[in-house]
Amino acid sequence: MNYTNHVYGLCDTDRTATTKRAAMYLRDIWYFALAGEGLKAGKLVHKVLLGEPLVFGRTAAGEAFALRDICPHRGVPLSAGRILEGKASDCGVPLVECPYHGWRFRTDGACAHIPSLVSGQDVEVERIRVRAYPVREVQGNIWVYMADEKRAEVTPDHEPPMMPGFEDRAPDIREAMNFSCHVDHAVIGLMDPAHGPFVHRAWWWRSAASIHEKSKAFAPSELGFAMVEHQPSSNSLAYKILGGKPTTEIAFRLPGIRIERITVGRHRLVGLTCVTPIDEKTTEITQSFYWTMPFLTVFKPVARHFLRRFLGQDRDMVNLQQRGLKFDPRLMLINDADVQAKWYQRLKHEWSASVEQGRPFENPVKPATLRWRS
Ligand code: FES
Ligand SMILES: [Fe+2]
Repeated sequence: MNYTNHVYGLCDTDRTATTKRAAMYLRDIWYFALAGEGLKAGKLVHKVLLGEPLVFGRTAAGEAFALRDICPHRGVPLSAGRILEGKASDCGVPLVECPYHGWRFRTDGACAHIPSLVSGQDVEVERIRVRAYPVREVQGNIWVYMADEKRAEVTPDHEPPMMPGFEDRAPDIREAMNFSCHVDHAVIGLMDPAHGPFVHRAWWWRSAASIHEKSKAFAPSELGFAMVEHQPSSNSLAYKILGGKPTTEIAFRLPGIRIERITVGRHRLVGLTCVTPIDEKTTEITQSFYWTMPFLTVFKPVARHFLRRFLGQDRDMVNLQQRGLKFDPRLMLINDADVQAKWYQRLKHEWSASVEQGRPFENPVKPATLRWRS
């Protein structure tokens, strides 16, 4: 199935150039890969991201790393092998050993040892490399920098996002779910403000009768845009539980990261939504919450239940959407409810162009006030 025909809101001349790029994933950018707690020291974890097989590992010293999960010798997944450290490593650094013929690789991807070699067989072992991906572990999240597949050595020119005010803390709760769609439909589905009263209808959140007109101010922000700080809708009972008069700021940044900050007096609650493409037809959504309110801890099981239900409603809708998309229809984006989706397309377009042309990214979003009913 060809997703490229689902590029929205662009004129036909834009389509040709854009569809080509939109068919691919955004490159040279940080993607959320997995939860830090999911990676134990000495263990290897296989995960496909952007259609590429990766193996994540953690050394005894606690450092996370990522390599392409294909042995350059004869293609066996390195994730089926093991990490060698200390005496077992015999070269003082952690090594990943392939289970087939025991080739060993450093965490920077250079081959360190080929067991079958005898003296006189001159193979420049360290010139054999498996692709290594830059990795950062920030506040309980492991981010991986996905550069163009054709370029071997890359140095990231920016850092993954941080939740201000939470230092090294990991999230208080987290849920992950797979949507059966291309990343664009997941991102657009999550940022779309008009589906709330229909998809998330529930006594504790929204009802169809609660629809009313909204007007929100937006401004460009780092790698995206933000709904500037405001008092949340009065029709959200969930906010009332927090007590006091909350204010919220919602920022979206490429490639598919949404950070919602709610402040109530001196307390903060931050929601981090990460949309990660697994392959063309699978997208993983990871929703994490960080908070400073100790009393919220007792609500964890309830919060988890509602979070699963809420995400499940979004997933069921985009999965249902696939039934229509199968027939390759033309789609529409309307003002103002779908303007954020248009911005997402423009941001992607500009990001790809800046990467291709090797120039700085210029945020195409201008300050605007959007109005819609939801
Ligand atoms: S396939 Fe990995 S060592 Fe041969
Ligand atoms: Fe939703």
